[in-house]
Amino acid sequence: MSYTRAHLAELGLTLWRSRAASAAEVESVADVPESVPVPVSEARPAQTAPARPSTPPPQAPAEAQLSADRRDEEEAAAARRAAIARMDWAALEAYVKSQSRGDAQQAVFGVGARDARVMVIGEAPGAEEDRRGEPFVGRAGQLLDQMLAAIGLSRQRDVYIANICKFRPPNNRDPRPDEVAQDMPYLQRQIALVQPDLLIAVGRIAAQNLLGSEQPIGRMRGKPQHFGDARLPVVVTYHPAYLLRSPREKAKAWVDLKRARSLLTVSA
Ligand code: URA
Repeated sequence: MSYTRAHLAELGLTLWRSRAASAAEVESVADVPESVPVPVSEARPAQTAPARPSTPPPQAPAEAQLSADRRDEEEAAAARRAAIARMDWAALEAYVKSQSRGDAQQAVFGVGARDARVMVIGEAPGAEEDRRGEPFVGRAGQLLDQMLAAIGLSRQRDVYIANICKFRPPNNRDPRPDEVAQDMPYLQRQIALVQPDLLIAVGRIAAQNLLGSEQPIGRMRGKPQHFGDARLPVVVTYHPAYLLRSPREKAKAWVDLKRARSLLTVSA
């Protein structure tokens, strides 16, 4: 197996090379000539470590290569975000649906009125959503529909529903940060296209990622919250799946929903 420098960096290893060797780019450990000092592990006992130069070069070649790779990755990610930010509905939907991830059966793009005043933001598709390609269609989805109906909103007519992550994470685990980072530009574009007056974030994962916060949901709900440069109002409430498990919390969710309704009335 051949390890790239990025692999080594992930393992916490720094590849040292002599000045002579650094002239020729070495792409893998397998390519490192015998005469070149070996990778130095942090774990090596101090007494056996070779003497290091008293003043290390400003940036070792391996580190320079790593930062160049990282710069390339950041530039590619920025170009991707910029391209997504210019897409119309058709292009965005086609692009998201052309993607795949792990064992997920399909991308779950979003559903509802594309000119809605309210967007409901969930976490990620579950098994039923993955199968049907639509967000919130399982038991939690039925409760969500009832919650919306309680403040006079219907899924088809008044809201647009989307998730932070467009693909079902395996075994219903929380989405990983890299998955959120990958999918956030899709949601940002959906929000920009819908131009809602209000976002309702259901559950901790949705709220934390929308608001860039690590606070527990109990601290985020019940307070004025805003999304993005436009400071779009966000109401944070409990996830309907949690409410199914903890029905006593429904009273707090009802308080949140009434706040959502009054924010909509004010901005009407
Ligand atoms: N839970 C979510 O957060 N989103 C869905 O689409 C389904 C369940």
